[in-house]
Amino acid sequence: MKSWKELRAAARAVQQRAYAPYSQFRVGCALEAETGEVFAACNVENASFPVTLCAERVALGMAVAAGQRRFRRLVVVTDAPNPVAPCGACRQALAEFTPDLQLEGIGSEGGAVQWSLGELLPE
Ligand code: THU
Repeated sequence: MKSWKELRAAARAVQQRAYAPYSQFRVGCALEAETGEVFAACNVENASFPVTLCAERVALGMAVAAGQRRFRRLVVVTDAPNPVAPCGACRQALAEFTPDLQLEGIGSEGGAVQWSLGELLPE
């Protein structure tokens, strides 16, 4: 099983690939499946903003396409000073597979906050 440090590094690395010309808000995430396999993804924006894909749902799609349906941890990194939690749509998408997923947000100053999906989803 990967360490939190390794998951953070995977999320930080893929953040560099974010396609975010409209918001300039680059997001990277690392989603760990129950098998230990890690799926790292970034946000992919579009000129039609609702078409934008959040990093979390890109990672989820990659994982499901690879045959994974149960997940352990998700780390999200951004350049915002404070840690960011997944948006409501991503919470809903993740809960379809793992309602008790452990989430961690990392801010640009290195601060980390952890939540369980179960505590965030109702919000
Ligand atoms: N975004 C994510 O990819 N994940 C989050 O958890 C927060 C928001 C993206 C969507 C959009 O490309 C940009 O960040 C601004 O909202």
